[in-house]
This record gives sequence, C-alpha cells and structure tokens, in this order.
Amino acid sequence: MEKKRIACCISGRGSNFKAILDAVNTNEIQGEIVLVVTDNPGAEGLSYAHENGIRSETVVRKKGEPRYEYFERIIRLFEEYGVDLICLAGFMKVLSGNIVSRYRNRIINIHPALLPSFPGEKAQRQAVEYGVKVSGCTVHFVDEGVDTGPIILQEAVPVEDGDTEETLAARILKKEHVLFPRAVKLFCSDMLTVEGRFVRVSDRGLGC
Ligand code: GRF
Repeated sequence: MEKKRIACCISGRGSNFKAILDAVNTNEIQGEIVLVVTDNPGAEGLSYAHENGIRSETVVRKKGEPRYEYFERIIRLFEEYGVDLICLAGFMKVLSGNIVSRYRNRIINIHPALLPSFPGEKAQRQAVEYGVKVSGCTVHFVDEGVDTGPIILQEAVPVEDGDTEETLAARILKKEHVLFPRAVKLFCSDMLTVEGRFVRVSDRGLGC
C-alpha cells in the first residue's frame, strides 16, 4: 500500500499536528506529512514543521477576499503537493463548500467535545457551563456544516467538580493526542468506509 500524502492545517499551538507527526515518524501511520498550511504566520506549531523539514505554507485571507477564493488558493496548494488526506489540527477557519466537495471524506477534524454536543468555538467552556458530567473529543470527516460530519472516533472524559475550562481542556487534549493519530492511521490503512452518516471501521485489530 502506498503511503498517503497528508497535509495538516494549523492556526496555533499545533499539539495535535505534533501527535500525528510523532505517529508518522515512528511508522505507526502509513503516511507522510508533505505540507503544513496555516492561516497564522505566528502559529507556534510551525516550529515542528521546520524541525522536521516539512514544507509549510502560510495562506492569509486578504482583505475582502471571498471565502471561496481563499480556499481555492489552498486547494491549489493541496493539488500541487498531491495531498490525499487533510487533517484540520486546530485550524480556526470554517471550510467553504468548494474545498469540502473537492476533498469529500478526505478531510478530518478534531473537536474537543462529544458531538453533536457543543459544536463550534469554546467547546470545553460550553461543557463546563452546561454542567455535563462527561465530555470528550470527536474525530470526524468534514462536511458543509460546522462540526456536523460523519463521526470516525470518539472518546469520553469525566467532567470533575470544580473543573474550569482550562482543566477540562487539558484532560480532553490528552485524549485528542491519542484519538487523532488513531483515526489518521485507520484512514491511511484504508480501513474507513463512509456510508451516509456512518463511518465503518473495517478492522479494529490494528493495535492502536
Ligand atoms: C484542540 O483542542 C482541538 O480539538 C481544537 O483546537 C485545539 C487545537 O490545539 N480543534 P492544538 O493546536 O492542536 O494544540
């Protein structure tokens, strides 16, 4: 099986990108990160790309530039790099329809809540303020909605008395760093099939 060509999109810290990179570097994932795209020239996570000799491209949306055109520029990069899989690892822009349809079921996002609860921004704060006893993270394919696409994997964490947005976020983040690489591994091993809203995992015996 040929290695999948992966692009990671980041806007900030990049710890999920780092988790995927580590799994690639230990050959846990049958893939290669060929490109990092950011909308933020100051994204801290770019340092992991530089340290690992991975090409990075900063694509800032111009003033007045329609979303469609902004994402056309990003699509052209993905085409240039022959990308098979796009990982949204803390990318703070909602994708427009052209990129979603061009890469249908090939864009994966991580969200720090158990979807469909608490979509959108500040999911951990939403969970704490709502008073739920359990939250977690979700890895899903991206569709035209915000955090609405077919769910690949989910993992729960308890919400403890006295939790703040920060303490809950830290607990969830630990799970994210396991769950996202696991989903990427499944994708790269051709073990995911999407049937409508359902993502079938063809073999769970991967040891991950
Ligand atoms: C993570 O909590 C992720 O779930 C959300 O954005 C955050 C990104 O963190 N989508 P990092 O940049 O990967 O450290």
